[in-house]
Amino acid sequence: MKVIENISELITIPNDGRHPKRGEGMRDLGIIRNVNLWIEDGKVLRITREMPDRVDEKIDARGKVVMPSFVDPHTHPVFSGYRDFELSLKISGKTYQDILKSGGGIFYTVDRTREASEDELFRESSKRIEYMIKHGTLAAESKSGYGLDLENELKILKVIRRLSREYPITLVPTFLLHVVPRKREEGDYVLEMIDALDTLKRYAVNVDVFCDKGAFSSQWTEIFLKKAREKGFNLKMHADELEYIGCSSLINKLDFISMDHLIKTPDEVIVEMSRKDTVAVLLPGTPFTLLEDKYANARKFIDNNVPVAVGTDLNPNCYTESMQEIIALSIYKMRMSVEEAITASTYNAAFATGVQDRYGSIGEGKEANLLILDIPSYTHLGYHFGVNLVSDIVWKGELI
Ligand code: NIG
Ligand code: FE
Repeated sequence: MKVIENISELITIPNDGRHPKRGEGMRDLGIIRNVNLWIEDGKVLRITREMPDRVDEKIDARGKVVMPSFVDPHTHPVFSGYRDFELSLKISGKTYQDILKSGGGIFYTVDRTREASEDELFRESSKRIEYMIKHGTLAAESKSGYGLDLENELKILKVIRRLSREYPITLVPTFLLHVVPRKREEGDYVLEMIDALDTLKRYAVNVDVFCDKGAFSSQWTEIFLKKAREKGFNLKMHADELEYIGCSSLINKLDFISMDHLIKTPDEVIVEMSRKDTVAVLLPGTPFTLLEDKYANARKFIDNNVPVAVGTDLNPNCYTESMQEIIALSIYKMRMSVEEAITASTYNAAFATGVQDRYGSIGEGKEANLLILDIPSYTHLGYHFGVNLVSDIVWKGELI
């Protein structure tokens, strides 16, 4: 038996296990003070002030916070081709779409990713996975999308599978229709990928489309997602990030596990989302790194009872693995409360990733995937920003 003892604040996140949390529910962290946590066979056995008769390992958490590990519901971690040089272009006033249209942006990363072998991609991406884990993320949704042809998309999905097998983290693979490849017609590429869905099913559980101006139209997005749903994929969508071109309105026609970005989303869609379990995944790192002032309206989503999660959007444009940084941005840039930001980065993020049975909350009988933070109270998350507050990590009941 392992015991984490004298926990100053234990964040449990009460939940029914069947629905993501919304509204007032997002602010209820289920905090228990001065308590011990017993762990056996990888699971939380008891949350109690007592001690068991037999203890094999004791971890002292006096003056510390214990919380569920972070779940990152939106990442593009496997690529080659950093774009640090684009930062000066952005500072001089170039927009994301200017850079993309001139053959840079995603296309630059696609060229480098195609040149890289599977082993090279694995090695490069390993570093990012290590950063994720060190900063407390033990489960993440992970997208392909820098291949733009079947062979290279499969190469990326295979790397995601290898990373998930070799590191103490659960990566849930998503096939992403990212942009139309150069010199191809939109419909032609979409139809080719529809034909490849059976092959992709062996490597991915979700599909996603970057539905936006300069990427995919809502018409082709709908055609693709319908076919993918018939094949048993869960649906996700990059929607309304740059412009509203009808993408998020597909909520009326299809069931999504999440819709992401949602910066330009109209009010009618927000109302429609409040009737469903689709999680709104908000990604404040993206406008931050694009030097934009407009962030998703988190307050409107939460106050209208839409379940909200937050994620890093880890990619070569928005390069961070830290959910702690994203919590800070959620608070300072989207006016979320720290309680809402914690629920959004754990339980609701687990729901958007499809891992809520094992991640996102701490309860008796549930797998022990948790963090010990060296802070006196959870209210230091976001408040104390720019540093790593994680002092210990427990994955499947083991200290790593
Ligand atoms: O989620 N918006 C589209 N795709 C990514 C960015 C990818 C890139 O710029 O390389 C995103 O922001
Ligand atoms: Fe993204």
